[in-house]
Amino acid sequence: MLDADAIDKLVAAAQKARQRAYAPYSDFTVGAAALSADGRVFGGCNIENASYGATICAERVALGAAYAAGCREIVALALTGPGERPISPCGICRQVMAELAPDAVVIMQGEGEERDTSSVTDLLPAAFGADTLTQSSDG
Ligand code: THU
Repeated sequence: MLDADAIDKLVAAAQKARQRAYAPYSDFTVGAAALSADGRVFGGCNIENASYGATICAERVALGAAYAAGCREIVALALTGPGERPISPCGICRQVMAELAPDAVVIMQGEGEERDTSSVTDLLPAAFGADTLTQSSDG
């Protein structure tokens, strides 16, 4: 399913979603697109807030849209933002990817042609997760 054409389309969906970014404070517009196992694509953009900590990143908006639509299996997540070089997801988004899209291929691209691809595990090794929460009761 994840051939070069599918990846190109997912990056294009992230670029389109980026156009809807609400980033009046940073002016740093980010777009993301999540691809579900059944082929659906969910776009997301960053949505900022005057109370800066209430800002939501593009990746979390895209993953939230997928989950809200009932999708639980995310196979790929594309991310794009300003500048020539690929943009790298923040730590909170890496943690959310580990929870909601642990098996996704993450594709990162800026406004240039350069593209990085990574697994979620490579982006966040030894993630805190459900297994860590339950180990305290393992004895
Ligand atoms: N941002 C994202 O949308 N995703 C990231 O992974 C990094 C940061 C947004 C949050 C904020 O609106 C702006 O980029 C500057 O930090």
